[in-house]
Amino acid sequence: MIADIKGYEAAAEELSGKGLDGIAIRTDVTDVGSVSGVIRETMARYGRIDILVNNAAISAELRPAPFEQCSPEEWRRIYEVNVIGVFNMCKAVSPHMRAARTGRIINVSSGTALKGTPGMLHYIASKGAIISMTRSLASEFSADQITVNAVSPGFTLTESVEAQPELLTTFADAAITTRLLKRHAVATDVANVIYFLASDDSGFVTGQLIAADGGSVFHSVEGRSGVPILTKESSAGSDILETCFCERSEPRRNTKENASKNILMLAHAANRTSSQSP
Ligand SMILES: NC(=O)c1ccc[n+]([C@@H]2O[C@H](COP(=O)([O-])OP(=O)(O)OC[C@H]3O[C@@H](n4cnc5c(N)ncnc54)[C@H](O)[C@@H]3O)[C@@H](O)[C@H]2O)c1
Repeated sequence: MIADIKGYEAAAEELSGKGLDGIAIRTDVTDVGSVSGVIRETMARYGRIDILVNNAAISAELRPAPFEQCSPEEWRRIYEVNVIGVFNMCKAVSPHMRAARTGRIINVSSGTALKGTPGMLHYIASKGAIISMTRSLASEFSADQITVNAVSPGFTLTESVEAQPELLTTFADAAITTRLLKRHAVATDVANVIYFLASDDSGFVTGQLIAADGGSVFHSVEGRSGVPILTKESSAGSDILETCFCERSEPRRNTKENASKNILMLAHAANRTSSQSP
């Protein structure tokens, strides 16, 4: 079932062109009535809901700008879709998944929420909320064996992004400089992680965030993170996002002093691991 506010007919055609049993239905995730409609339709057709992927967002259409240029109205519009939309969908599937005592919920966050990326404060706040919601929902759903996880893509060449030349110019090549794997990310890089989180193979994984970003962000105390820098540019009299990316921390020099710090950190990590072991 593809639930989207636009493009759902083309998606349905693509599915049937591949001989797949699936339907697309117009859904506005901000509208509780519309959300109930798609859940009703899914239950009527399939009799169960096994997996929910919360991918809908106001995303590719946004232009990077300093936070002073965000309006409260735009902030609310983004929050309504990117955060309350996820809440609406989770709430709507809850009775069905709880009754079945199984289910998989996968939320799409963004690497920007982990990096302190400048220029899209409202969007980044919404994607940060997704990470917190994922953890809290994982706790709330755990008694019914429903897993809740999130994926954080890096800058990815999806159809919507490719339709925005300005976004491509600003981010596409620059994003590669922050990655360990030096290539563009494509939709299947993210879809494959979602597929794993939806599959039986991830049955013992919940409350987690998986970065699908070619190694741009590490989830560790001493993690690295490629961060874009916002600089002032006089062009057209406005602030723009410079396509300049850097490492957050200086490369560690191999001195005696740093070597002992590394050993201490390793010991600390080992202690943490052993104290958390069952
Ligand atoms: N492409 C990237 O670089 C990138 C990076 C990090 C995270 N993401 C996230 O990945 C997901 C997909 O991104 P994308 O690049 O395909 O962008 P996109 O803008 O094409 O995808 C968002 C989808 O949400 C739908 N949508 C918007 N408002 C809706 C509403 N009220 N109800 C229902 N559907 C609605 C849109 O029609 C669109 O199909 C988004 O959650 C985005 O935030 C993308």
